[in-house]
Amino acid sequence: MTATMDRPTEEAPSGGKVPLVELKDVCKTYGNITALKDISLRVHAGEVTGILGDNGAGKSTLIKIIAGLHQQTEGELLLDGEPTRFTSPADALDKGIATVYQNLAVVPLMPVWRNFFLGQEIRKKSFPWALDSNAMRATTLTELSKMGIDLPDVDVPIGSLSGGQRQCVAIARAVFFGARVLILDEPTAALGVKQSGVVLKYITAAKEAGFGVVFITHNPHHAHMVGDHFVLLNRGRQKLDCAYDEITLEHLTQQMAGGDELEALSHELGR
Ligand SMILES: Nc1ncnc2c1ncn2[C@@H]1O[C@H](COP(=O)(O)OP(=O)(O)O)[C@@H](O)[C@H]1O
Ligand SMILES: [Mg+2]
Repeated sequence: MTATMDRPTEEAPSGGKVPLVELKDVCKTYGNITALKDISLRVHAGEVTGILGDNGAGKSTLIKIIAGLHQQTEGELLLDGEPTRFTSPADALDKGIATVYQNLAVVPLMPVWRNFFLGQEIRKKSFPWALDSNAMRATTLTELSKMGIDLPDVDVPIGSLSGGQRQCVAIARAVFFGARVLILDEPTAALGVKQSGVVLKYITAAKEAGFGVVFITHNPHHAHMVGDHFVLLNRGRQKLDCAYDEITLEHLTQQMAGGDELEALSHELGR
């Protein structure tokens, strides 16, 4: 696959050393439920930050805070080193943070190009009430092929694409509309091995093009294949925060599986 995505237009100050996004001691409570407690992490340009954790660990809550959907109850969110509060997902998107949710907001029966431009359609210059479908078709084709997705026809309904391809269209779309940070919520969770491979390749392509990628997964193998940095959440707490060369796949898997708890269980079951 060829990774020829454009670099994000705005680079982080000081040559990418300041993280694009940073969380400092972030807590989030819903009523008396503590979903997140003292989470600190950094998302750098050109790196994949893998966020791992079992169901209920707080992964979705964490990305909702970065994506502007929720606000933290305590702690700070910094964007390019500046303390920030996003007022809405649109505000976060405006500032370059795009989220691809697991249940992609696509209209299955609409053509690929319509979905690509959904809500941000190109209009004809001389007839602003009319959609410029040719321009949108051509742009969709170009943007997808930049990511190595060669669709013979962008007029096919997006519902006819494979799950992996749909994820990739969503990523290409976020990139085209100016994202610098891509948050991918369990993009491989519903996919088979081959399709997951397709998505993992795009994650690497996005990272190599200089985007900061936040990759949420409960699959340590997937995280380890593309991640530069790993954060493991367990019941809202940060259990692990380390770089790729500080942890082996075995250790990551073991931590993810519950570590000592799992060993104790296996012992108990006599296996
Ligand atoms: N809107 C909400 N209201 C109340 N509790 C919530 C809400 N969203 C999440 N939670 C709780 O916060 C915890 C973390 O959930 P979540 O972030 O969805 O975890 P994950 O995505 O890792 O499965 C869970 O205990 C969940 O029940
Ligand atoms: Mg979740």
